[in-house]
Amino acid sequence: MHDVSRENVTVLDHPLIQHKLTIMRDKGTSIAGFRRLLREIAHLMCYEVTRDLELQMIPIDTPMTEMMSPTIKGKKLVFASILRAGNGLLDGMLDLVPAARVAHIGIYRDHETLLPVEYYFKAPSNLEDRLIIVVDPMLATANSATAAIDKLKERGANNIRFLCLLAAPEGIKRFGEHHPDVPIFTASIDSHLNEKGYIIPGLGDAGDRMYGTK
Ligand code: PRP
Ligand code: URA
Repeated sequence: MHDVSRENVTVLDHPLIQHKLTIMRDKGTSIAGFRRLLREIAHLMCYEVTRDLELQMIPIDTPMTEMMSPTIKGKKLVFASILRAGNGLLDGMLDLVPAARVAHIGIYRDHETLLPVEYYFKAPSNLEDRLIIVVDPMLATANSATAAIDKLKERGANNIRFLCLLAAPEGIKRFGEHHPDVPIFTASIDSHLNEKGYIIPGLGDAGDRMYGTK
């Protein structure tokens, strides 16, 4: 794991993550392949983003004897998916942490203004003092992510991490100005945004590539 000391960002540079990301970026990759790779990368990223979770010892009985054994301490995690594309990461995260609670945050960005349009919000009621991992493959302008995190904080969230595949420098800056308390985990910091707010070199529109829309 390589720590980029600026702006509260950690780049997850595990070779398997980077290899799979390269295939996802390739425009020749099929919808089925894209979806499968996103889920696989989510497994690897989930492993990294949860590696410092606190453990507590509990008593159990193995078939042989009693023992004290480690288990994750505290309230159940919450995964918050920014719809639609966040669901691709969410599925992989839930493979590894099946008991996690889930928040769905419906936000899309207006293609002209690039401002976030909110259309759905459903989250567990007691967000306070839970670790909330917000997932969305793309951090471009960061308008969607900052709006999603605003909503979660309004509902009491006070321990949030943001996980994405690609982040633009412009988005990292804006995100850090709005939510300096929220660390970002990403597989890549790309070059820049183009005039339409797309990440360059990027991978295109994540939702469209996952679901075959255009
Ligand atoms: C994409 C992506 C993020 C957002 C990032 O979603 O999944 O949510 O754009 O851009 P931003 O950082 O400039 O806000 P999109 O708006 O295309 O919605 P969709 O997932 O429903 O396709
Ligand atoms: N949303 C995407 O899906 N892709 C981008 O490059 C920017 C925002």
